[in-house]
Amino acid sequence: MSKSIAVVVGSLRKDSYNRKVAKVLQQIAPASLKLNIVEIGDLPLYNEDIDGANPPAAYTRFRQEIAASAGVIFVTPEYNRSYPAAIKNALDVGSRPYGKSVWAKKPAAIISVSPGAIGGFGANHHLRQPLVFLDMPILQQPEAYFGNVAQAFDEQGQINEKSKQFLGSFINAYADWAAKF
Ligand code: FNR
Repeated sequence: MSKSIAVVVGSLRKDSYNRKVAKVLQQIAPASLKLNIVEIGDLPLYNEDIDGANPPAAYTRFRQEIAASAGVIFVTPEYNRSYPAAIKNALDVGSRPYGKSVWAKKPAAIISVSPGAIGGFGANHHLRQPLVFLDMPILQQPEAYFGNVAQAFDEQGQINEKSKQFLGSFINAYADWAAKF
């Protein structure tokens, strides 16, 4: 039976390269994994005043989807040398109520995706900090910095072979990692 893995995409825009990469990962993932994109764009900014006995429906939906997953892959753009607020908000929503975090112990991996040459290094490493605190064991190798992403897709939206292989080595390593938990 395959493991259900949540994919959190840090860009909310329609033509996002990060979402395109997430979709390629879905297609090429080994049979041991089923990747589901869990949406974060509808989560109200975390506010304890609106959480509690009657949280927003989006919080409940999101928490349930992550809780039902055996692991989480973060596909993140880099915003100002860090990861986007949308991901931080999703982490905060999933971490509450206190003592009921949906993130704990779920094997995680990060791939940063950027049209720039550095491949979102800053985002990739900043995101590791809260994941450590949230008690998520994070895949260390291979590191995945997907730079120059605009050149990886042709006009039909097809990814080139070299990039597909790179993504393949990442997702296969993650499958081995997730199998340990
Ligand atoms: C960016 N971008 C960017 N790129 C990068 O490599 N390092 C950075 O620090 C930043 N900073 C940044 C800040 C903000 C607010 C925006 C909107 C963008 C460019 C970014 O990589 C580019 O817009 C990507 O296309 C975003 O990913 P999606 O939306 O294509 O998935």
